[in-house]
Amino acid sequence: MTQAGLDHFERLYSASDDPWRVRESWYEQRKRALILAALPLKHYRNAYEPGCGNGELSAALAQRCARLLASDASPAAVALTEKRLSGPGEASVEQHVLPRDWPAPERGPFDLIVVSELAYYLGQDGFDQLQSRILASLAPEGTLVFCHWRHPFDDRLQGTEALHDAMTALPALAHALHHRETDFLLDIWTRAPGEAA
Ligand SMILES: C[S@@+](CC[C@H](N)C(=O)[O-])C[C@H]1O[C@@H](n2cnc3c(N)ncnc32)[C@H](O)[C@@H]1O
Repeated sequence: MTQAGLDHFERLYSASDDPWRVRESWYEQRKRALILAALPLKHYRNAYEPGCGNGELSAALAQRCARLLASDASPAAVALTEKRLSGPGEASVEQHVLPRDWPAPERGPFDLIVVSELAYYLGQDGFDQLQSRILASLAPEGTLVFCHWRHPFDDRLQGTEALHDAMTALPALAHALHHRETDFLLDIWTRAPGEAA
């Protein structure tokens, strides 16, 4: 991400600690509940949630994961998520600009990776790298979640349908769930049997 891109998110977080109203809006609350209900397993061992924003989904994921690593490009978002996750538990938050700062292989493999309202900010090269990083760190039978708003907006560099279709086309992933609404897509894949990292 360019510094200009990073500044954009910093400005949003300096104006509000909840720029997308993820805490208050029923739309966001319901979408979060759908994501959590759609996860095939009750508990995960080692999860990664890049682009965690202010940590609202992270807080719920932390209840289901023995270990959760959340990250965001924005230092302000990292601070908000740290505050949100301040209870006991194995959750940590780091500043990662994706795809560059994807966690090193020894931090994985991850049996859960959640990409929510993030991938459309990446250009094609960035998204291609993100795909490779995901495939390199998703555990055997691991769960991958993508959830993205479907409508046009200024910062969008990729269409939601194209992003989700690109993941579905990967032979290493088996499609486990497709949920399509007027406003968003929610897809879940698992690492296909025999398709090692
Ligand atoms: C719309 S918010 C989504 C937050 C949360 N995942 C959710 O679904 O509510 C997008 C977040 O992605 C972060 N972000 C955007 N581009 C990023 C990148 N290249 N690397 C890491 N984080 C990024 C922004 O700072 C912002 O916090």
